[in-house]
Amino acid sequence: MEKIVIEGGYRLKGRVKISGAKNAALPIMTACLLTDEKCIIKNVPKVVDVATLSGILGELGAEVESGEQGRLVIKAASEGSSTAPYDMVRKMRASFCVLGPLLAQRRRAKVSLPGGCVIGLRPIDLHLKGLRALGARIDVEGGYVRAEAPQLKGARIYLGGPCGSSVTGTANVMMAAALARGTTIIECAACEPEIEDLANFLNKMGAKISGAGTPRLTIEGVDSLHGAEYEIIPDRIEAATYIIATSITKGEVTIEGARLEHLAAVMDKLSEIGIVLAGEDRRLKVISPAKFTSTDLVTLPYPGIPTDLQAQFTALLSLADGISVVTEKIFPDRFMHIAELNRLGARVRKEGPHAIITGVSGLSGAPVMASDLRASAALILAGLVARGKTVVNRIYHLDRGYERIEEKLSSLGAQISRIEDERGSSEEVIYA
Ligand code: EPU
Repeated sequence: MEKIVIEGGYRLKGRVKISGAKNAALPIMTACLLTDEKCIIKNVPKVVDVATLSGILGELGAEVESGEQGRLVIKAASEGSSTAPYDMVRKMRASFCVLGPLLAQRRRAKVSLPGGCVIGLRPIDLHLKGLRALGARIDVEGGYVRAEAPQLKGARIYLGGPCGSSVTGTANVMMAAALARGTTIIECAACEPEIEDLANFLNKMGAKISGAGTPRLTIEGVDSLHGAEYEIIPDRIEAATYIIATSITKGEVTIEGARLEHLAAVMDKLSEIGIVLAGEDRRLKVISPAKFTSTDLVTLPYPGIPTDLQAQFTALLSLADGISVVTEKIFPDRFMHIAELNRLGARVRKEGPHAIITGVSGLSGAPVMASDLRASAALILAGLVARGKTVVNRIYHLDRGYERIEEKLSSLGAQISRIEDERGSSEEVIYA
């Protein structure tokens, strides 16, 4: 198993280009199951989750060809297996997004329940509620969701849950509704840019979806969808991770390709901490302050601060002057990084869904264990600034969502490398 080794204390300088958004690419790839024509998707990040989903689509009868510069050509078959087994779905929850397209296109689907993961319970009741409202007959048995519908029918659906909207729930229901008979209205739809991106792709395939990016989606069902060519939006979470990496090392980096309009809440919070973001859309210069100001933040559905940046903000605030409170409203148990940050000298305490952070003047390197994708990123950020050597174990999490992270950070001057565990560890891979 590989590890990342970082020698901390080097200021990041230069330019970094942001890759395509993983969380937009994954549901868009599953949307290709809605047609048997060829779809060309550009700017797809080269990350393990994309490779895993390509394998799953292959099992479902699609031909997936990966080309240069994030180009992916997907051609699904009109018929084929409608089963996504446990061994696939457990590796990546986003593969549950094949349920809506399979049901709409092949009239039936059998998809393994994804189960919980280290960031929390992660139920799928909203996905099932939405698909049932469209007329699907759904049973959950033996760890599988079996869904069937000779013809889906449009409906008015409220998709809000205890923590607000569901991103992949909205994606699943929207994809199924695209081929339903009549009009579907989804209230409390997720407003994330990745959902808007999926709706734009579906519209290019011939769907009739309006309201994407707002809590009310209107989908007029069509008889069939066709192939399309589409470019994925830049990854706002990767962009913000590099902004925080720059700031934490007191560096000066230009972030290329990020869309400012997707980062409003993040930029507002960063400015409270003292970080200046200058420049224009697609070319953002990060200027770090001498000291970070402590602040409180709450993660919320878009356009709030994303839960996918909670761990990275926690790492940054562990070096702020004073006490900060970070409240997690989406996944109240997503705090596995706290204990590991504390191994590096941070002073963070968990109180229910809150992380209480007492700022310290510096961190010191140590071996740490990554528990999930964003926790891994937070540990890398802390390692960049910690005195001495930090070794991040279980980095397979990182590879699921960050394209060439050590290469990008090295090009900015970080002392970071990937090494093979000499013991040739046979440790079990734990998926999040
Ligand atoms: N929820 C329910 N019922 C459901 C579905 C969700 O109550 O049927 C709850 C969840 O428990 C949570 C909230 O609704 O409290 C939001 O969960 P959501 O369904 O939006 O999460 P997701 O769709 O499974 C996506 C991202 C996650 C990101 C969350 C929140 C993808 C592939 N995954 O997950 O990304 O954290 O939205 O923004 O888009 C990551 O990239 O590291 C990652 C975990």
